[in-house]
Amino acid sequence: MKSLVLAGGMGTRLRPLTHAMPKQLVPVANKPVLFHGLEQLGRAGVTEAAVVVGDWHREIRAAVGDGSRFGLEITWLRQEAPFGLAHCVLLARDFLADDDFVMYLGDNVFSDGLTGLADTFRKRRPAAQVAVVRVPNPEEYGIVETGPDGRVTALQEKPRRPRSDLAVAGAYFFSPLVHDAVARIEPSLRGEWEITDALQLLVAEGHEVRAAEITGWWRDTGRIDDILDCNRLLLDRLETSVEGSVDRASTLLGPVVVEPGARIVRSHLRGPLIVGAGTLVEDSYVGPHTSIGADCVLTDAGLAHTILLDRATVTDVNGIHGSVIGRSARVGSSPPGGGHRLVVGDHTELRVLA
Ligand code: G1P
Repeated sequence: MKSLVLAGGMGTRLRPLTHAMPKQLVPVANKPVLFHGLEQLGRAGVTEAAVVVGDWHREIRAAVGDGSRFGLEITWLRQEAPFGLAHCVLLARDFLADDDFVMYLGDNVFSDGLTGLADTFRKRRPAAQVAVVRVPNPEEYGIVETGPDGRVTALQEKPRRPRSDLAVAGAYFFSPLVHDAVARIEPSLRGEWEITDALQLLVAEGHEVRAAEITGWWRDTGRIDDILDCNRLLLDRLETSVEGSVDRASTLLGPVVVEPGARIVRSHLRGPLIVGAGTLVEDSYVGPHTSIGADCVLTDAGLAHTILLDRATVTDVNGIHGSVIGRSARVGSSPPGGGHRLVVGDHTELRVLA
């Protein structure tokens, strides 16, 4: 089976991070979100993937390389503007030829990977199979209605009044029948060729489209809170590994990863958490569900449930929680009476104690 990986989105809901990097490279558990997906595709037996990229094509290509570390041979496809998921299938027509494929949304993470879903599809080989999951807010997703046997009877894209709570998650398995459907749909009101419409066309014409409910959890990392949540869930499976140095005055509790070259000095680390390569943590407290990137410096700092990107520094500030701190960003304290000093980039969110 081939794969079509979609990594062209602009990530406007992840600003300001996405002013400086594509959303697919935002790290969760210290690894770009896209890498989690590529690894899982490799594990599910995919060997050839086409990755659709947009304006961030250079950065994504540089990070992914030739794909061999994921066991994938990669073809790059450039999409000039975000014309929708079905448009990506059109773009990839030559690459996909008449093979079955899994279309994977590059900012999605499935806890249990794609192997089970791929096996289910291979065994029955319907015209299409969508991964689905029950959600409390179905109006924000594509949703499916199913018959008792798991066959899809109808689909809707972000309906105002959803008729089911089964949302389409970001893994779609297709037989080549999808190409004909994709070629016949029109752009939606939001100006995109919707894959939901192509699937609905297959259903309407009597083809078998199946819903496969996922096991475990699934996250679409479109917003900051989703990123933090996905980071938390991934860290919950962490196992301790200390390759950097930890001095005798420090304590480590719970699953903690200290990457090579990282130094922990007079600090308390309460996992699950990761300290990235080359990072210095000194006289600090790092609490659960925190991922600290490479070459960061924490001095007299206290933080938990937070992501620090590479080279960020935190000095003399405690109580940081539920935060994402960008690359080379500096967080520090003011002298008494000095007030808050804020140098805030575009589309940044700050909350300080009132
Ligand atoms: C897309 C699909 C939607 C699906 C969702 C999953 O939405 O159109 O059907 O449920 O991905 O993340 P978008 O992220 O483009 O709004």
